[in-house]
This record gives sequence, C-alpha cells and structure tokens, in this order.
Amino acid sequence: MNDSTFHSTRIATPDPTPDAGRGARRRYLREATAAAHAQVDALAAPALHSTDGYAAYLRGMHRFLRHGEHALRDDQSGPDVRARRQWIEFDLATLGVAPLAADEPPAPLHGDADRLGWAYVIAGASLGAKVIARAVAELGFDRHRGARFLAGHADGDAWPSVLHRLEDTPLTDDELLRMGEAARAAFAAAADALRHGREEAFA
Ligand code: HEM
Repeated sequence: MNDSTFHSTRIATPDPTPDAGRGARRRYLREATAAAHAQVDALAAPALHSTDGYAAYLRGMHRFLRHGEHALRDDQSGPDVRARRQWIEFDLATLGVAPLAADEPPAPLHGDADRLGWAYVIAGASLGAKVIARAVAELGFDRHRGARFLAGHADGDAWPSVLHRLEDTPLTDDELLRMGEAARAAFAAAADALRHGREEAFA
C-alpha cells in the first residue's frame, strides 16, 4: 500500500447528523478519523517491509490492545481484546522480542458511544491486519509461526459485528459526536503505542 496516498481524499471534521441511513455512522467515523488512521498507517508501515518493523508493530499493538482491554473491560459485546493481546504475546515470543513494559492503562469506559468508538478502532485494525499478514508471509510468518495475531484478528467476525452494533445502537446526536471523539482518542492511543514500539530498544 502507498502510505501517502491511501487516505489523502478524506475529510477531517465531518458533521454526523445530516447523512442519515445505513452506513452513515460508519462513514462518519471513517471521515472523522481519516487523519488519525493515516498517522497509524505510517507508523505501522515498516511492518510491511522487515522483521524488525513487524516486531515494532506487534509491540505497539500489544500495548494498544492492553489499553483497549482495560477501556472495554465492562463491554460485553465488543471484540475479544484479551485473546488478541495474548496472540501477540505468542508472536513476540516466536520473534524473541519482549513486549513493551506495562504502562498505566485507561479507566474502563461507560456508555455505548465511548465503547463503540474504541471498538470501531480495534476491530477496524483487522482490515489493516489482512494487508500486513500478506506482507509478513513474505518474511516467513503465518498463523502457525509468528503471525497468530494477524490471522486471528483478520479471520474473526469482530469487524462485521461492530458494523452491526453501529447500526443498531440508539445514539443521540451528542452521543454520535462523543463516539467520534472516542474513536479519535483510541487512534491517538494506537499512534502513541506504535511510536513506543518503534522507538524503545528491543529487549
Ligand atoms: C500498515 C498498517 C495498516 C494498513 C496497511 C491498513 C490498511 C487498512 C485498509 C486497507 C483498510 C480498509 C479501508 C476501506 O475499506 O476503506 C483499513 C481500515 C481501517 N483501519 Fe487500517 N491499516 C493499518 C493499520 C491500522 C491500525 C494500526 C489501526 C488501528 C489501531 C487501523 C484501523 C483501521 C480502521 C478503524 C479501519 C476502518 C475504516 C473504515 O471505517 O472503513 N488500521 N485499514
């Protein structure tokens, strides 16, 4: 994928309310987070090209998912974040790389708007995981060796399930805005974690 062109046409601050109908909320979230996604794309892009880049991505995603696990602790309907974090631990062990040190996670979120914003980002990362899985296959990693997380994340129904929830959850206009803010906060957490994954020396 070309990092610089992938998201170049998206809008930064859309209004969620006038565009009603199926798919409108997903479009709103995609547009509200386009710049943030471009940033995590660029931070994760080295995973496409080298084992070190892939290890840095795994370390970053591990920290991000640990945060997501805490944020969505009381959410019964979201993706199984704990399983995903554990798959990354298997993969890091295969690569012989330690996870980043545990840092202070966010408090558990309350309310559908905040939870949906985070769940959207965590589940949406499975779309990027498919792209990365194809690239790291060239490096010799697959679901049996070193890419358990990518395979499991890409396989599951987390993404369609979040899309259904987006359609079916009653949300006021204020809550829609709040959901967009929560998604941007989740992307910011991902960017920060991916940056640490790249910058902190491998143990
Ligand atoms: C090299 C890394 C990545 C690549 C190549 C990538 C690529 C993609 C692709 C191809 C899509 C589908 C776009 C579409 O159908 O319109 C997508 C969607 C998405 N990705 Fe990424 N991604 C990457 C990293 C990430 C990360 C690290 C996260 C979050 C932590 C993330 C979150 C999302 C979300 C939320 C969507 C859904 C956007 C929508 O609503 O269509 N991605 N990504």
